[in-house]
Amino acid sequence: MQYNQQELIAIAAAAQEKAYAPYSRFKVGAALLTAEGRIYSGGNIENAAYSLTVCAERVALFQAVAAGERDFVALAVVGGDERACFPCGACRQVLAEFAPDLEVITGQPGGPVQRRTLKELLPDVFTLK
Ligand code: THU
Repeated sequence: MQYNQQELIAIAAAAQEKAYAPYSRFKVGAALLTAEGRIYSGGNIENAAYSLTVCAERVALFQAVAAGERDFVALAVVGGDERACFPCGACRQVLAEFAPDLEVITGQPGGPVQRRTLKELLPDVFTLK
């Protein structure tokens, strides 16, 4: 499906601003595009008990799944001040549960975009199938 990469990156960047990351000070934003064109976004949410932190990618995905969405096309991630922030290993596994054919893009608004398939990011994924 054709979509506007810069628009998805911009929505991820807006979610990054709302991230709650007082401990690492590393704010991440993610925006997830559904097959029907809706977009769900979220930022990372940290906790004083550090391991309870939830990454931006899972915040966005869980918002979408909680709203009843099951069909996803692309995920944009904007993280830190770096050019690229691909999802961590845990998020790759969680994304694969719902969107094995997902396309993942990362970059900064107005800058170059890097693109991978989730299958490239997580080959030989674990499933019960
Ligand atoms: N983080 C994300 O939100 N997504 C990633 O893909 C990598 C890491 C968050 C978790 C934590 O709040 C902060 O970035 C530093 O690790």
